[in-house]
Amino acid sequence: MFDGLQTLPQPMVVRIDGARITGLWPEAGFDPAQAEGCREAGRGGLVTPGLVDCHTHLVFGGSRAGEFERRLEGVSYAEIARAGGGILSTVRATRAASAHALFEAALPRLQALVDDGVTTVEIKSGYALDVAGELKMLRVARRLGQPEEGGLPVRVTTTLLGAHALPPEFTSDADGYIDQVCERMIPTAAAEGLADAVDVFCEGIAFSPAQCERVFQAAHHHGLAIKVHAEQLSNLGGAALAARYGALSADHLEYLDEAGVQAMAAAGTVGVLLPGAFLTLRETQLPPVELLRCHGVPIALATDANPGSSPLFMPTLMLNLACTLFRLTPREALAGMTAHGARALGLAEIGRIAVGQRADLCVWDVAHSAELAYAVQPGRLRQRVFGGRITHC
Ligand code: NIG
Ligand code: FE
Repeated sequence: MFDGLQTLPQPMVVRIDGARITGLWPEAGFDPAQAEGCREAGRGGLVTPGLVDCHTHLVFGGSRAGEFERRLEGVSYAEIARAGGGILSTVRATRAASAHALFEAALPRLQALVDDGVTTVEIKSGYALDVAGELKMLRVARRLGQPEEGGLPVRVTTTLLGAHALPPEFTSDADGYIDQVCERMIPTAAAEGLADAVDVFCEGIAFSPAQCERVFQAAHHHGLAIKVHAEQLSNLGGAALAARYGALSADHLEYLDEAGVQAMAAAGTVGVLLPGAFLTLRETQLPPVELLRCHGVPIALATDANPGSSPLFMPTLMLNLACTLFRLTPREALAGMTAHGARALGLAEIGRIAVGQRADLCVWDVAHSAELAYAVQPGRLRQRVFGGRITHC
């Protein structure tokens, strides 16, 4: 039965006027008068909502290929971070890069997502860790979604991730850095309209729950939505804490326990799974998918595209990984990158095929939706419709 969530179960006609879906009928018995004045496009393909990549770090300088080699030799992600590498090595490269250079480097990464069906992408800051640099990253992210400024036809939402790692200027003074995030970064980003949400990395190698809570309070105060990187490497209760502040999503979640799941369910917080990071870091602790299902927590999926833990820029690969690694069904995986991804961004008008929704759609050269997760195969996107306009053939 058609639930409007992901794909159309029988041949259907979708009518688009301007930027919105205005009609939806079974093709059998369809009265062509209902499409009068319309131009026909996309016949015969599998139609899904445009993909929503609700967690990325697309804007960054440098490369972490050397760190990749060290991890293969047995050094862990956390050990590299504690030795001043990892996120901080990307911070050095990002601080040194101009806004122009960051934009030019991010554009092909974004193009790769768009070519694989993405119509909405969230982009985080978090690799500058000072006020000017974080704002620079957010401006670059905004520009990436502005075709008139050289960007691409894709909806970009931006998230301030000032509390991603402790910058070298604040070694031994994490609370002092959190003061700066709360008193300068968040107010300025909010005042300049540069951030839609605020995120934190709640982890032993990053910030404590108490420090994260101060960031959530500041985000609340400035009217920004809340997200959290939580329970990735250990269980600090970050997801439950964020849920108590009404977080849109808690992301990673490998070490999430049932109390955390219950707190998320009570708050309507989406669980964002990031199988690319799980794969890249060769994690073994699986996220509690069955508990999330049992408690009715919506499960979203994202690339987490970033230079360290997930240098993977292919959303449909995440559909495959979520099924093979986390045992999601192909249908759950697709919902994770459409309806639930949209919910993780607080966007009600995208992610489903329904009258009144924004006309962000993909037409795929596949016969069944399960094929999108089954094969890892670029080039299956026949048409991409963004706000009613065909932008890719
Ligand atoms: O989502 N977990 C923290 N942040 C990123 C990784 C960033 C990096 O390693 O550069 C993540 O995995
Ligand atoms: Fe991340």
